[in-house]
Amino acid sequence: MVYGRLSRRLRALGLRSFKDYLDQLERDGGDEWQAFTNALTTNLTSFYREPHHFERLHEELQRRAHDGPLKLWSCASSTGEEPYSMAITACEAYGTLTPPVRILATDVDTQVLATGERGVYPVERIASLDAGLKKRYFQRGTGPHEGFCRVHPALRQLIDFRPLNLLSSRYEVAGPFTAVFCRNVMIYFDKPTQRAILTRLVPHLADDGMLYTGHSENYLHAADIIQPCGRTLYRRATKAA
Ligand SMILES: C[S@@+](CC[C@H](N)C(=O)[O-])C[C@H]1O[C@@H](n2cnc3c(N)ncnc32)[C@H](O)[C@@H]1O
Repeated sequence: MVYGRLSRRLRALGLRSFKDYLDQLERDGGDEWQAFTNALTTNLTSFYREPHHFERLHEELQRRAHDGPLKLWSCASSTGEEPYSMAITACEAYGTLTPPVRILATDVDTQVLATGERGVYPVERIASLDAGLKKRYFQRGTGPHEGFCRVHPALRQLIDFRPLNLLSSRYEVAGPFTAVFCRNVMIYFDKPTQRAILTRLVPHLADDGMLYTGHSENYLHAADIIQPCGRTLYRRATKAA
């Protein structure tokens, strides 16, 4: 996999060996370090992936309807389908295109963040969505844009896309967050690294906030940091745990 992905960078740069590529990276890496990172990430995602999370988020937002502006964070947002699904959920929960919600969408890969910022997707990406949601939140392209759809500009207004590496030593984010979606990214890290990330992430949760995790991620090994509170959902562990 690494071979295939980096080979593309070598071809783009006209280099003939991995040694030449690594020598060039180490000598004058610059922007190529970001291209190297972007080439290595796996960005599989979809709108409303793991739909039960969005049902739960809907309930949590409605329960806090009078709590003032709420903050949500998608910390491995990939091409944007996850934060846009959160934005749609907020609009649906409050029955308005301007819900009292701000969404932070971060990822280590700058290319996927650019796709998220554009908010334009092939129509197949929304094929399985409910017809009402498609009508309310997506604009179908015509002419040269045929085959693509654009998210409603009101959704784009709710989201800030920013680069952030979960491996960095601290996260400069403005919480506390009612919901942190950290889904299908921890699988790439070993347990000590997962613990280190959770230790940095969890303090940004609101007291009653929840961590939404991927279907194949479990944190039994981190029960002193977070505790399960539903299907692939966690809350901050209480001090006594
Ligand atoms: C498989 S996608 C998951 C996207 C979305 N969360 C979902 O569940 O549909 C994993 C994302 O994690 C990002 N990622 C990988 N390592 C990361 C890191 N160290 N910091 C932040 N994001 C990272 C990748 O760039 C990729 O977009």
